[in-house]
Amino acid sequence: MASKAISKAWYKEMCVYQIWCRSFKDGNGDGIGDLAGVREKLPYIKSLGVDAIWFSPLYKSPQADYGYDISDYRDINPEYGTLEEFRQLLDEAHSMGLKVIMDLVVNHTSDQHEWFLESRKGADNPYHDYYFWRKGRAPGKAPNNWLSTFAGPGWSYDEDLDEWFLHIFTPQQPDLNHDNPKVREEVKDIMRYWLDMGVDGFREDVITYISKKDGLPNGFPIPVACGMEHYDFGPNLEKYLTEYRREVLDNYDCVTIGEAPMITPKKALRLIGEGPDKLLDMVIPFDHMSCDGFLINWIPVKFNLKKLKKCYANWQKTLYGKGWNMLYIENHDQPRIVSRYGSELYRAESAKMLAAAYMLQSGTAFVYQGQEIGMTNLHLQSLDEYVDFQTISTTALMKRLLHLSDKTLVKIASKASRDNSRSPVQWTGGKNAGFTTADDAWFRVNPNYPEINVEKDEKDPDSVLNFYKKLIAFRKDNPLVIYGDYKEHYRSNKRMFCYERRYGDERLLVVCSFSDIPVRFNAPEGFDLSDGECVLNNYPDPIIIENGFALKPYETRVYRFRA
Ligand code: NOJ
Repeated sequence: MASKAISKAWYKEMCVYQIWCRSFKDGNGDGIGDLAGVREKLPYIKSLGVDAIWFSPLYKSPQADYGYDISDYRDINPEYGTLEEFRQLLDEAHSMGLKVIMDLVVNHTSDQHEWFLESRKGADNPYHDYYFWRKGRAPGKAPNNWLSTFAGPGWSYDEDLDEWFLHIFTPQQPDLNHDNPKVREEVKDIMRYWLDMGVDGFREDVITYISKKDGLPNGFPIPVACGMEHYDFGPNLEKYLTEYRREVLDNYDCVTIGEAPMITPKKALRLIGEGPDKLLDMVIPFDHMSCDGFLINWIPVKFNLKKLKKCYANWQKTLYGKGWNMLYIENHDQPRIVSRYGSELYRAESAKMLAAAYMLQSGTAFVYQGQEIGMTNLHLQSLDEYVDFQTISTTALMKRLLHLSDKTLVKIASKASRDNSRSPVQWTGGKNAGFTTADDAWFRVNPNYPEINVEKDEKDPDSVLNFYKKLIAFRKDNPLVIYGDYKEHYRSNKRMFCYERRYGDERLLVVCSFSDIPVRFNAPEGFDLSDGECVLNNYPDPIIIENGFALKPYETRVYRFRA
């Protein structure tokens, strides 16, 4: 059976490495990751076989939300380095064949951005309408009932103005008003500034939130993110994205990846559907990251493989030939995947299996710093140790509403908090995991660094790191992985994930056990394993039974078949 023709593009064939700079590598010995550290590690990044780096925000920022609160879109956070250093890094990356993707955060700015400082000077100030300033409903009462997605009020009051401003995230992140054409001009100028400098595209932060419903009506009363139905995929989203595309992005050979919480593949096609009206190249899906919890995973439940498989099949099938998938299992907002969908007990095995499970699907693959060595959650023992605003405000809200004890909250946060993936990258078994030469790193280093670190993995041919390298190289060498179609087998199996990829007369069969007990696998109809070549595996010798095997805990085996 011939596969549908799929249009090819460089961004479809990329593997992208995400850097959250503060915890990547400290180059100047002050305990904070920086550009000098990134430059030092460029050869390492290149050695992974990836094609691009996505930087979480590097811009000037008071760091209330670790860089997602920007006070100057045209400068680098002094803790990380200078603009000149960034230019050098960009040149070095390019000369090594690595593209550079920046985070574009334009749903909101920092409250220290000069636009906001101006805007709060008064209703006559030309910047006032850059933000959502409104009178309260009554003394002490916000303009509507919207709440932050970070568990807190959605509005803050300014006494001098006797007005409130909207912030969907922290109170230090006022929302920008894209309905104001001047704001849209600013956004376009920022895009041009970085694209003209040579960056290769943007990951666009919560881009589906930029258009708010006229009149800002009350939302359905829920304790977190109340009002979301009035700004998620708001009325002018497509109009504004069209403007950004036509007036700026179309003039550059760049890639755009839009963060889109709660989006479905069907809805995604409105933004990424291929053809002349395409607005973004990819969106960041979320549903596959909620198979072990509800409410942004703050209500943890047992991992549900069937749910994960359903999400994967939905995205793969709906988008095939029509739009492009973005594949990931970790980022700076997600706790470590081994501690969630895998097993810390079978850490290396499950890290490898999880990599094969997502990276062999169709789409552009992203890998988050530390994921490639199978870093685990941090498991902090006290709420006081958390530094992430979302964690602090969500645990406070849960305490207030549900009267949970600190002990319970510590347990929940150790599974759900974003801080789990923000601990410094473990480079060596030496002091501070080789992250910094300072006495202390800015944030707790995971105490398992003597066991889990890059140096150790580099020396071990069977390490998680070397598995990732093989997998990334395999993707690169096999258009089947990038462009092939997707078919799932054994959909209702709760312990095993098995899918097939087909491109021309080549087929790939990916088998993954998500279980710590043995699982029986028989090749699906039409596959004779003795005709296939095992191209990837995480255990040396399979236990063969007929045309299949007894999968060991978290075993993965990948077979290629050529006609
Ligand atoms: C999504 C980012 O990934 C997250 O880290 C940030 O807190 C929010 N957007 C607000 O910018």
